[in-house]
Amino acid sequence: MADKDLSALFLDTLKDIYYAEKQILKALPKMAKAAQSDELRAAFEKHHTETEGQVERLDEIFEMLDKPARGKKCDAIEGILDEGKEIMDEYKGSSALDPGMLAAAQAVEHYEISRYGTLKAWAEKLGMPKAAKLLEQTLAEEKKTDDALSKLALDAINAEAA
Ligand SMILES: [Fe+2]
Repeated sequence: MADKDLSALFLDTLKDIYYAEKQILKALPKMAKAAQSDELRAAFEKHHTETEGQVERLDEIFEMLDKPARGKKCDAIEGILDEGKEIMDEYKGSSALDPGMLAAAQAVEHYEISRYGTLKAWAEKLGMPKAAKLLEQTLAEEKKTDDALSKLALDAINAEAA
């Protein structure tokens, strides 16, 4: 068996999140269109723009590694996004649509936070401080998005209860 090392794992995981980001870029406009509240639509639109920048950061890291920027099919993100699609279909026209999409979007963010946290740590370990810094920037954006979604979810619950 080939002796794959941490740098191979780093590259593989970079491809995984690259694939995920590309899928997220496709999903966000659909989620924005389906959102009932203006706030949620605005949050999805904002994160779409951010995601474009995140893809660019990944492009930069592939360049640093002298590797082509290429995704590798990630079953985890496919599954999370499929669940989101299911909610959009099944709760169309329901007052539970936005809470459902918020939950789906937070699952996406948590997946990304996990991946970026790992990649950042590995970049540091591999002596790639520039890559680590780019990954840290994206990690901070994902955490901020998750916080914003948490707040919207709480607002939605409170509005429902009022
Ligand atoms: Fe992202």
